Amino acid sequence: MRRTGKKAGNLNKDITKPKRTEPTLKQYAERVKILHAIDRFILENKSPEKIAQATISNLRKLITCKRTSVVSFILEYDEARVLVADGDGETKLKPGDLIPLELFGDMDKLSRGEINLVKDLKKISNPSHAVKALIEEGIRTYINIPLISRGELIGLLNLGANAPGGISKQQMEISQEIADSLASSMELARLLDKVMKYQRELKRFSSKIIEAQEMERKRIAMELHDEMGQAMAAISLNLGALEKELSPGIKASVKETLTDSRKLADDAIKKVRELAFSLRPTMLDDFGLIPTLRGLINKYKPRAGFQIDFKASGFEKKLGAEVKTALYRVVQEALNNAVKHAQAKKVLVHLENNGKSVSGFIKDDGRGFDSNTVLYSDSPEKRIGLIGMRERVVFLGGSFNIQSSLGKGTEINFNIPLTNLTNE
Ligand SMILES: Nc1ncnc2c1ncn2[C@@H]1O[C@H](COP(=O)(O)OP(=O)(O)O)[C@@H](O)[C@H]1O
Ligand SMILES: [Mg+2]
Repeated sequence: MRRTGKKAGNLNKDITKPKRTEPTLKQYAERVKILHAIDRFILENKSPEKIAQATISNLRKLITCKRTSVVSFILEYDEARVLVADGDGETKLKPGDLIPLELFGDMDKLSRGEINLVKDLKKISNPSHAVKALIEEGIRTYINIPLISRGELIGLLNLGANAPGGISKQQMEISQEIADSLASSMELARLLDKVMKYQRELKRFSSKIIEAQEMERKRIAMELHDEMGQAMAAISLNLGALEKELSPGIKASVKETLTDSRKLADDAIKKVRELAFSLRPTMLDDFGLIPTLRGLINKYKPRAGFQIDFKASGFEKKLGAEVKTALYRVVQEALNNAVKHAQAKKVLVHLENNGKSVSGFIKDDGRGFDSNTVLYSDSPEKRIGLIGMRERVVFLGGSFNIQSSLGKGTEINFNIPLTNLTNE
């Protein structure tokens, strides 16, 4: 028998008689049922704690035992964490308790998948404090069954009973079978948990990037508008004043140069305003999404070389700032792409807000592209625009889809749920 400490004492369980003496068939059916229950828990994406809890409560239907617990190992800290502990009567063991691994005795033996069985605690010479505590709790026999997944010892299923030596071969078999299933489901749950955490982190990260990008655009837009725009407005005013001050006898070429310079300054002011607007359309906050999109489309029309059919419905309902910005950026990038790459004759921009979600598409009849090659190529820098659109939509809990093939035009579809958004 192994060394046991205070806490391990609480862990150690043993097994007495099978609950049922009915034919094996019935027990077999019970076993299958339990394994199915565990599988269901994995499919329902439960945590290792919940899977362990469900396993134990099912196991107790098959085997009478005073105490059961499941611990999972945190090998890097040489500790085990209690996932679940229950049974008849009091136990000091609580979920979340940490137990030093050395208290589980021969780890090599457990790592090899061998069960640790103590038939009678009272027969141990020099019992440790933990063993004494176990005996005090009324436990006489206990068993530690290794939970092994992909060749690694990841935890233990511990059972304790109040009769010495009361463990049959059949009970061992049942517990072992349950332990095997428990091990793989716990591992799967742990992996799933890790993947989901990673996914959440990625989502947070991309939202931070989008946020930072918007902030930076806003800052540059304001700088352009307020600093450059104002300075150039002053230059234009000065030039205008000079024009008026010119004496009638001045050379015509001087007057022409002055007028020309003023016009250039006025043009530059216009360009700076446009640039500031495209970087950060303040109209979005001031006038709402649809007027801003109309403004954007009107600007595209003269140079686009294609017809734009814009339809929007349901937008009298209010939208959050994040959704408005995302929609604006998606339409802006899709139109940019149509101008840059599509050589289209017609582009449809249709948006609909039904109060529950905003859906829409941007479809051109241009030359299209091989979306599989572009979207899955190894050079993400070649599809930053497309990725950016998708990120914005997906970040808001929506779906995004691009369909394009050579000669057949391009269609972008998206749907953003509004319930999620109001919560964010
Ligand atoms: N509407 C479109 N029509 C044709 N090709 C497109 C269209 N949209 C995107 N593409 C193709 O997909 C590539 C990636 O698009 P994008 O990520 O927006 O990057 P960029 O516009 O900076 O090239 C483009 O270079 C182009 O080859
Ligand atoms: Mg682009």
